[in-house]
Parts: sequence; C-alpha cells; structure tokens
Amino acid sequence: MDHTEASTTNSTSDATKVALGKGLDIGTANLAAAVQNDEDGITVTVERNAFLDIGSDVYSKNMLTKLKVPYVVHNGKLVVLGESAFELANVFGKETRRPMKDGLISPTEIDAMPMIKLIISKVLGDPREQGENCYFSVPAESLDVDNNVVYHQGLFEGMLNKMGYTAKAINEAHAVVFSELAEQEFTGIGLSFGGGMANACVCYKTIPCLSFSVARGGDWIDSNVANVLGIKKSRATYIKERGIDIRDPKSREEEAVAIYYRNLISYTLENIKNRFETGTNMPMFNDPIDIACAGGTAMIGGFIEVFRDEFGKIDFPIPVGRIFRAEDSLQAVAKGCLVAAVIGD
Ligand SMILES: Nc1ncnc2c1ncn2[C@@H]1O[C@H](COP(=O)(O)OP(=O)(O)OP(=O)(O)O)[C@@H](O)[C@H]1O
Ligand SMILES: [Mg+2]
Repeated sequence: MDHTEASTTNSTSDATKVALGKGLDIGTANLAAAVQNDEDGITVTVERNAFLDIGSDVYSKNMLTKLKVPYVVHNGKLVVLGESAFELANVFGKETRRPMKDGLISPTEIDAMPMIKLIISKVLGDPREQGENCYFSVPAESLDVDNNVVYHQGLFEGMLNKMGYTAKAINEAHAVVFSELAEQEFTGIGLSFGGGMANACVCYKTIPCLSFSVARGGDWIDSNVANVLGIKKSRATYIKERGIDIRDPKSREEEAVAIYYRNLISYTLENIKNRFETGTNMPMFNDPIDIACAGGTAMIGGFIEVFRDEFGKIDFPIPVGRIFRAEDSLQAVAKGCLVAAVIGD
C-alpha cells in the first residue's frame, strides 16, 4: 500500500489547527466517517453499505457513462458502489448486494471485504498522518443469536491498519454516549437502533458497565411486516421510511410497522432491565441518568413518545431523567467514534 504521502493539512493555519483522529461507523445499512473540520465542527460523510455488479460489456459501460454513474472494475465486472448502487438497483428492479448482515460481515457474500473496503476508502480517505487514530464501531455480543464479533472486529482492525491508520474498536452504543452525553460527563445509557441490530450501553463516567445487542433492527421490522402482510421487504422498508408516525398508524400496513416498533422498544428495555438486575459490579446511580437514542431506526415519527410510553410500563432498576433522540440520529455513532478518537489518548 502506498500511503506514505505526508499530509500537511494540520499545519495550514495556527489558529485553526484541526485535531487528528477519525471516527468510522461500520453499519449494516450505512457506513459513516466523521472528521473535525476547520470551523470547529464535525463533518460526517455517509454512504450506503451496498453495491451492484454489472457485466463489463460496451453497452453497460456506455450506459453508466451516460447516466454519469461512477463505477470501478473488480474481477472483470463493473461495480457501482453505495448510494448510486441503491438508485440504479431501484431503476432496474434489482436488489443490491450487501457486505453486512445483522450487524456483522456477511458470511454469505464472497465479495464482502473488497467491496466494503472500497466504500470505506471513499468515506474515510487516507490518514492525514501515518498511524492516525481511527475509532470504528462494533456491535456488542448478541443476547439472542450466536454471533462472532471477534472475527468481525479483527477483520476491520486489519483493514484499517493496512490503510495506515491505528485502528481501535469501540462499542456502537458506547459511541452514542460519547456523542450525546458529554454534558452528563459520559454517564447514562446510549442506545443505537440500526438496520441489523439494536445496541445498548450503560456507561458510568466514560466506562461502559453493561453492553449488549439484540438482533432486532430495521431489517427485522421490514421482514416481519413483509411476512404478515404478504408484501415484498423493499415495500415494507418504503412504507416505514416514507414519514409515518407510529403513534397514529393510518393503514393496516402502518399498523404492522407500529406493532413491531413497539415490540423492538419494549424488548430492548426489558433486556436492559434484566441484564442490569442480574449483572455483577453494576454502579450505583443515585442521580437520574439520561437515555440517548440514535440510529436510523430511531428516526421514525413518534419513536421517543412510544419509547417513553413503554418505559413507563416497566419497573426500571435505575432512576432515569431525560429520554431523547440524538439531533442527528444517523450520524451520532460516527461522531461518537470521533470524540473517542480525539479524547481517547
Ligand atoms: N426515516 C426513517 N424512518 C424509519 N426508519 C428509517 C428511516 N431512515 C432510515 N431508517 C432505517 O434505519 C436503518 C438504518 O439505520 P443505521 O444507518 O443506523 O443502521 P446501521 O448502523 O447501518 O446498522 P447496524 O448498526 O444495525 O449495523 C434501516 O433499517 C432503515 O430502513
Ligand atoms: Mg449502527
């Protein structure tokens, strides 16, 4: 790899020195990279974690050129990446291929690693300095399915280190705490409701004391809605994302989405409660702690209200103050990874 080019961007101006370190959210549905910008803010770049391969004949090449769709050549095939793949697949009635499934690298997609590497390079870019810190998100072990986070984490550590970064894994929901609970001294509960899973982390002054995931997320809602209504999964996704409010479903289809949402939320809450009560070495929280929700699945209308409603039904073991959704729900994990990279060491 030739990542030896010395970056000089951190010496452009004395006043606006941009801190080194990057955050990367490796998600089933989306890949998001966060860096500090020179206006003292954070820039997040998001791409769909999907690709589409097309024959490399002249006709296909011309078509992509005409449509101005960028592509790369892999194993003699033309490959379209990210959002463009998603759009093109919709136009031609095809399904995109996905490098990840249920929060982890897909065991059935043989091109998963080379493709995800291309998309990651696109959103993350090269390190600005050899060995720049890159904190990347990983899910916690699941309570309900047998999954192998160790292998997944090792693969991405290796990939990022080869790209010239110093890669460090951080639990996805821990990253939500870093992004959303700074004013609470990084004490509270971070929840990430993604495409493949829901991740939870109970944190005390930056230290995670309980982390787990459940294999239920947006994809789980979509397949169940599709099953009970006898519709395609992509149609279920469409209904869910088109701006509905789960407090007030307007059709049989929306009703199904609302039912599975409620179940996902109460299932996650029940699990936090049970794990907290049965866990050892749990800290004592005397003051109420906040719960921050993030992830694409938390973006649905009425999410926080239904969450509060379900919360009210159980006898939660910890005093809780505010329950809120991250301002930028889809970007919170990437931002939290960046915060960890900057303050990490
Ligand atoms: N407006 C919306 N309303 C409801 N759901 C949405 C909306 N926008 C996106 N989603 C859903 O959010 C999910 C993707 O969220 P996110 O990007 O947080 O997941 P991810 O981080 O890639 O996955 P994971 O963390 O599970 O590996 C998808 O299931 C998508 O359908
Ligand atoms: Mg995620």
